[in-house]
Amino acid sequence: MAWRLCVAPMMDWTDRHCRYFHRLIAPRTRLYTEMITTGALLHGDMARHLDFDAAEHPLALQLGGSEPSELARCAALAQRWGYDEINLNCGCPSPRVQRGAFGACLMAEPALVRGCVAAMRDAVPSLPVTVKHRIGIDRVEDYGFVSDFVGTVGEAGCSVFIVHARNAWLDGLSPKRNREVPPLRPDTVARLKRDFPDRTFVLNGGLGDSGQLERELQRVDGAMLGRAAYHDPWRLREWEALAFGTPEPTGVVTRDDVEAAMVRYMERQAGTLGTPWLAVARHMMGLRLGEAGARRWRQVWSDHRLRGLAPVEVMQRARAAMVGDPQPA
Ligand SMILES: Cc1cc2nc3c(=O)[nH]c(=O)nc-3n(C[C@H](O)[C@H](O)[C@H](O)COP(=O)(O)O)c2cc1C
Repeated sequence: MAWRLCVAPMMDWTDRHCRYFHRLIAPRTRLYTEMITTGALLHGDMARHLDFDAAEHPLALQLGGSEPSELARCAALAQRWGYDEINLNCGCPSPRVQRGAFGACLMAEPALVRGCVAAMRDAVPSLPVTVKHRIGIDRVEDYGFVSDFVGTVGEAGCSVFIVHARNAWLDGLSPKRNREVPPLRPDTVARLKRDFPDRTFVLNGGLGDSGQLERELQRVDGAMLGRAAYHDPWRLREWEALAFGTPEPTGVVTRDDVEAAMVRYMERQAGTLGTPWLAVARHMMGLRLGEAGARRWRQVWSDHRLRGLAPVEVMQRARAAMVGDPQPA
């Protein structure tokens, strides 16, 4: 059940503030960091990349890299920092990532990925090492390609595969278009589950409709939501109830509760790290989606001219603005 519902790793989006926000709404969902490359981690500011709030558990660190010894060192760091899982990115199609020879192009080198997973597992035997990948690269639509990949990587002890159910086209399509243009084929993930029944398969790509989510969860082990969760985060409650069967009681029961809890978080962040509230608030823009006055509420929370105000004052203004605008947005 640990992977039943997940929020996808998303660069520039799922930073620690965003994850804290999602956790308030969804207590049982597994959260993922943005991809961090081995180079950035080993040669950069480790604490800045790795620090998180204890409330974020269960939390996975997603790594980008293809050098087993470097990945092993990063895995050891992840363990030291208290992460619950290490995930290797084998799905990112960006040209920058391809030049670094990792991301989706690793799907063409299953033996190398097996070596990477083995090195990380040796370094941290107690943590699950998982892989996030596509169903193929470029125009290869042969099921054998992805099933060989899973079979080979599984030999190193990877037992959880998170599958973005579309190909990655590495020949010039931008990362954004690569999340839209290659067709989604969730049946391929269901087939993987049938062929490797003792492995865990998490379906990713285009999920958001509750009926579809419910149907897919009958044939795979879990679901990972990306853009839908980011743009309409309040629905994580509905998806959690669907994925786990029953709603879990939490201290946060309304959108007002979430907003107030985020204000307290912003105050703590400003006090300890000097983080401006705008850096936190940018992830909350979808919270009021569908409510009357949502657009005006968003405008207040994203107004840079208010940056000198305390977060609690911004909240008061945002709520007052909502009342002034009866149009849902
Ligand atoms: C802004 C953005 C950044 C992303 N960054 C990453 C990343 O760092 N690592 C990764 O594996 N996938 C990344 N992805 C892909 C998502 O994890 C996910 O696979 C993809 O969006 C499909 O799921 P969705 O249709 O539910 O959004 C990113 C997606 C978006 C929209």
